[in-house]
Amino acid sequence: MNTKTIAVLTSGGDAPGMNAAVRAVARTGISYGMRVMGVRRGFHGLLNRDVFEMNLRSVSDIIHHGGTALFTARSPEFNTPDGVKKAAGNCRDMGIEGIVVIGGDGSFRGARDLTKEGIPCVGVPGTIDNDIAASEYTIGFDTAMNTAVEMVDRLRDTTESHDRCSVVEVMGRKCGDLALQTGIAVGATTILVPEIPFDFQTDIINRMMFTQKTGKKHFIIVVAEGVGGVDKLAKDIEEKTGIETRATVLGHVQRGGSPTLRDRVAGSVMGFHAADLLYKGRGNRIVVMQKGKVVDLDITEALEMERVFDKNLYDIALKISI
Ligand code: F6P
Repeated sequence: MNTKTIAVLTSGGDAPGMNAAVRAVARTGISYGMRVMGVRRGFHGLLNRDVFEMNLRSVSDIIHHGGTALFTARSPEFNTPDGVKKAAGNCRDMGIEGIVVIGGDGSFRGARDLTKEGIPCVGVPGTIDNDIAASEYTIGFDTAMNTAVEMVDRLRDTTESHDRCSVVEVMGRKCGDLALQTGIAVGATTILVPEIPFDFQTDIINRMMFTQKTGKKHFIIVVAEGVGGVDKLAKDIEEKTGIETRATVLGHVQRGGSPTLRDRVAGSVMGFHAADLLYKGRGNRIVVMQKGKVVDLDITEALEMERVFDKNLYDIALKISI
């Protein structure tokens, strides 16, 4: 039997392109003849019945905006067995028969638990971290990278003018993808990621000294959030090399801004796929990108997968940053 009423929510950290996914879910669901409910502030909204019925125009003028028009939250109450039961009960009372959950792996654990309580859920990967093992790509990653590159380019202007070294921290939790790709794009002398251990002398100081001998006068060092410690690192570099060094944490600025084409398209296609699955009565799935194609996997299996860091790309980055 086809699902008649579905809902869509965004959960965890917002990511540019989430709006494209929400829009695609609403438009697909409605065009299939389903009722589509928007849930405000993620699982928190389910617990509080903060839900409204969407129409085709509810999602107008959002595709080009960053953030999430449905708002988002982290809900400690939902992360308890009683919270999940209460949310499932609310869904039954409101006639919600399936939910598209747009977020990261924490949100997918919620989606899996809610499915076990009888409300079929489909996950859509939306996070700037690109840290979902089962998917090559997560919505928001491209915009965040481009923002980080723009910010580091600005830093570079001042770093270059003063013959300084800039140590820049980018987001990504325990995943080094954002740092790696940003580091390549800004020509960083060194990129530090949590997946690869580093030695202060060999991987930072020696590389700086080598490039200095060949005429380099300013340095950019990109550090993933999962490595952290940029203030101390900057101090240590200055002490060791005598080169004036400044630390910058880019922070939440990386999460905002108008989504890039890639994130609008990824959000649109993934959102469509998720609504289509619920229409066909399929739950406990997550929509992922594999070999450039949008496909779906069992949530439980997807959550057990381990992410593989692109060591080859990292090695290339180091070879050309001299
Ligand atoms: O998961 C996205 C992310 O921006 C991470 O890169 C970062 O570690 C975290 O969220 C920050 O979370 P909050 O917005 O709760 O400070």
